[in-house]
Amino acid sequence: MSGETRFERWSSSYERSLLQSLLFDRVHRAVFASAGRVEPPGAILDVGCGTGRLLREAHLRWPEADIVGVDAAAGMIEQARGLATAGRLVVATAEELPLPSESVDLAVSTMSFHHWTDKAAGIREIVRVLRPGGNFILADHATPHWLFLLGATPTLNAEERRSAFTSSGLTVMEETPVLSRYILLTRGQKATAI
Ligand SMILES: C[S@@+](CC[C@H](N)C(=O)[O-])C[C@H]1O[C@@H](n2cnc3c(N)ncnc32)[C@H](O)[C@@H]1O
Repeated sequence: MSGETRFERWSSSYERSLLQSLLFDRVHRAVFASAGRVEPPGAILDVGCGTGRLLREAHLRWPEADIVGVDAAAGMIEQARGLATAGRLVVATAEELPLPSESVDLAVSTMSFHHWTDKAAGIREIVRVLRPGGNFILADHATPHWLFLLGATPTLNAEERRSAFTSSGLTVMEETPVLSRYILLTRGQKATAI
């Protein structure tokens, strides 16, 4: 089953999944801890926002901030709207973000990156929409390649992720394991304009 179909099917029961408390909420908490180390954002983007759970918490923390959530699965966006997630919720992919350049202070993405078809293009798009000095917090699997042989979805390992950040114009400011050494939070900052 393609990732797209899987997430369309999962969308109606996603909020009730046991994985919310076991995994996703814990990853979100790590993202908020990292976000607490930077300036409060005026505009936030969640890439692969699913049903908008992280964005609802973001709205409680920063009620004045502009919020945008994008997800490739229409069903996920429909659920997010149904749950009264604040902000603009759009069906779109990381690789083609429907946002103007330099319009976002804080971009986040949780447990979605390993599904992106073109990861380098997704990171480049995020850097494009970040304002100078803005931050991207990516929390997702960073699996060593030998685990792919056991069925793990191929994605970038920690070193490849660092290199993808750096070559797209992000300085890696923080790298922290979340729950397991193979789920990694990486915060990158876009250079401030001179
Ligand atoms: C496991 S869910 C995580 C959702 C949410 N971020 C969370 O923490 O609960 C992965 C999400 O990534 C989305 N996704 C997959 N590929 C994507 C892409 N290329 N661009 C944007 N979203 C994508 C899926 O539709 C799905 O909603």
